[in-house]
Order: sequence, then structure tokens, then C-alpha cells
Amino acid sequence: MRLRLAGAVLLAAASYYVYLPLPSGVSEPWKLMLLDALIRGFMRASDVAHALGVCHRLHLLNRVVSWVEEVEPRSCSAVHVSDSSLGGVPARVFRPKAGRRLKRGVIYFHGGGWALGSARMRAYDSLCRKMAEDLDSVVMSVDYRLAPEAVFPDQYHDALAAARAFLSAPVLERHGIDPERLCVSGDSAGGNLAAAVAQELSSDDALPVKFKVQALIYPVLQALDFHTPSYQQNRAVPILYRPVMARFWLQYLGGDASLEPLLLANNHSSLEPLLLANNHSSLDQPAIGAGACSKLNWTALLPAERTERFRPATRETGSSRAMAAVPALLDVRAAPLLAELGALAAAPRAYVMTCEFDVLRDDGLMYVRRLRDAGVPVTSDHYEDGFHGCMAFAFAPVWSSVGRKSADNYVRWLDQNL
Ligand SMILES: *[C@@H]1O[C@H](CO)[C@@H](O)[C@H](O)[C@H]1NC(C)=O
Ligand SMILES: *[C@@H]1O[C@H](CO)[C@@H](O)[C@H](O)[C@H]1NC(C)=O
Repeated sequence: MRLRLAGAVLLAAASYYVYLPLPSGVSEPWKLMLLDALIRGFMRASDVAHALGVCHRLHLLNRVVSWVEEVEPRSCSAVHVSDSSLGGVPARVFRPKAGRRLKRGVIYFHGGGWALGSARMRAYDSLCRKMAEDLDSVVMSVDYRLAPEAVFPDQYHDALAAARAFLSAPVLERHGIDPERLCVSGDSAGGNLAAAVAQELSSDDALPVKFKVQALIYPVLQALDFHTPSYQQNRAVPILYRPVMARFWLQYLGGDASLEPLLLANNHSSLEPLLLANNHSSLDQPAIGAGACSKLNWTALLPAERTERFRPATRETGSSRAMAAVPALLDVRAAPLLAELGALAAAPRAYVMTCEFDVLRDDGLMYVRRLRDAGVPVTSDHYEDGFHGCMAFAFAPVWSSVGRKSADNYVRWLDQNL
């Protein structure tokens, strides 16, 4: 009797912990709830370990990720898999064993807030394997350095070095890759790196070989407005909560965690600090300052039906503390949405995948709009029942249905456009 009571109490406590009111319309809410409970549990544990001084929260999380998720580079009947390096950066390489003599080429950057994850994770291993097989392509999945040891521009530099090596004649020849059929891709923070690398390399006139396409999966593209309609609508939707994204940004850009409330209040991007930043910008960082407003003015960039229920949080006065401490907030290499139209015009044809239940939805949709304004052909693939990270959960053991659907469509788009 007592045992049964204890069981019931435990079950009630567990369901209370797991249960989360989710917006109606999200794909497979119970799977998302369980996934979120698991992630929240690990996050809390890592916060406790961090507070107690046991270890950095990111180290503990990455330890868990590698223990639960990392797989050896195992070849299968169709694809040869090995761990190697690309431009001095570790990378997992997937090569189809049969097929055409000259293959397509994909360089991939994994997600994880520039702080978590790796190309060795089961999810990314599965996705890249699928791409290699379905597209008859050589896929190189890059293990750029992570926060807290690496901060901007380290991750960006690793991504760029790997991409430059990928485009080089020796690598293309050694792997039998067609220089006319190259793609740069990534999800979430990896989508940010892919977009930044695509911008940088497309405007490099000295480069004989360029990317044909870029494919960005729920990319994160700006850190000036944490009140876009999607940030407002999805602030409490798993798995990427609004404060978590602000914290990822601060970790990436080397800002102090104490700036988080300021960022969430949009105080850093009120007009006044932007104007100041404009005046103080140095030569190696183009002056975007006040001009940045128009590049993420979502009342102008998004269709009315997405914006009418929301009010912009544009401030006249705020605090210049964040801009002074973290000038990279205005750096286009960290925030590709801030690029000038002229710089975007040279970017390769794009595929941008976005999810309705994702704080980053509008980062992606605004980028779609700005790329199109610059004359770049863009396919915008939006999932009304999608949530952040769903494509990484397309495989075992989660088998997210919207994740699988989106992974299939992503690969189909590449098949038709690469
Ligand atoms: C944003 O765009 C709207 C509509 O075009 C315009 O009225 C508003 O002044 C713009 N805001 C900023 C801060 O540029
Ligand atoms: C944001 O700025 C306003 C106006 O300067 C100030 O009243 C408020 O306390 C600030 N909030 C944060 C979180 O910094």
C-alpha cells in the first residue's frame, strides 16, 4: 500500500516536472515535452555543478552529450566514414562508396549555440550519412572550437578556415568533388556560421571556386532584437528558451553573463547606444551602428500577419554598457543579418528552413526577405508545426515526424539545386 502511494506520488511529481503547456499545433507535443524535460534536467544539473564550482556548466553538458550521443566513425555498405581534418580543423568525412566519379560536396556546421555538440553526435552523423548517400555527395562535418574556451571570432575563423580548405583544389581533387557543385550548410548556430562563411567567401574575388548554394536550417542571425514576434510568441516554448539564446550569444561574443537582462530588455540596441557605437567603430569593424535598425526592422521586413499581434520594443534610451563591453554585437561576421544589401547580392542561392515554434523563426524570415531584396534566389521552407532543433531529432531514438519531413525536404531541395 505504502509502496503504491510512493509510486503514485513519484509519478505525479514526474508528470508535473515533464508536463508543460505547449502551443496547440506543435508536432508530437508529448515527444517534445519528454525531450525538453530531459534537456532541462541536464541544464539544471549543470547549473548546480557550475554554481558549486565543480566545473563549467558547458563542460558538464558536453560531457553528457558526448557520453549519450557520440558515435564512432563507422563505415557502412554505402558510405565510408572517417575522422580527419580540414584546414587544420577536425572534421568527420562521409564518402559514398559508389556512384558518379565526380561527387557533389557539402560542408556542414553543427548546431549547439557555438558551445555544445559535435560532428560526432549520432544526430549529425545520421544526417550527414543520409546526405552522402541520397545526394551522392562527399560531406565534411566540421568540429569547430566551442565556448567557453573559444569565443568569437574563433568559431567563425575555424568555420572559415575549414571552408577555404574545402574549396581548395587539392581537397576537391583528393576527394573527387565537382567544383561546380558545392554547398555550405548548418543548423542553428551552425546555420549562423554557414551564412557568415557564405557571405565572406562569395565576395572574395581572389577565390576561383565558390559555393553554388547555401542551406540554412533554423539559423540564428542577429543579437540586437530579442523582441521579434517569434521571440515574443515562443519565449516559453521548448527547447530553445529566450534567455537561453541570450546566454548563448553572450558566451559566443565573450560578454559577461550579467548582461543577460539588459539584452533581454533590448536596452543594448536602443537608438542611443547604436548611434554611439557608430561613432566609435574602428576600421576593422564596419560602421553599421544606427543603420543596423533598418536591417532588422521586422515591422518592415515581415508580412503583416506575422507582426500585427506584436509591438516592437524599440527604445529611445537604454544602456551603452553592453555595446561598449561586447562590440561584436554589431559585427556582421557574428550577425549575418546585418550585412549590407550590396554584400548580400553576391551570396549563393539559398534555402532557409524555419519553424513556427522557434524564437529564431524571424531571424530566418528576415534573412529570406533581405536576400531576396538583394536579388538572391531563395527557397523559404517554413514548418507550421516545427520547433527549434527538430531536424536534429529526425533520427533514432526520437524520430520526430516534423524533423523527418524537414530532413527529407532539405535533402530533396539539395538534390534539385546542387
Ligand atoms: C521600421 O519600419 C516601419 C515601417 O516601414 C517604419 O515606420 C519605422 O519607422 C521603422 N523603424 C525603424 C526604427 O527604422
Ligand atoms: C533598460 O533601460 C531603461 C531605460 O534606461 C531602464 O529603466 C531599465 O532599468 C533598463 N533595464 C535593464 C534590464 O537594464
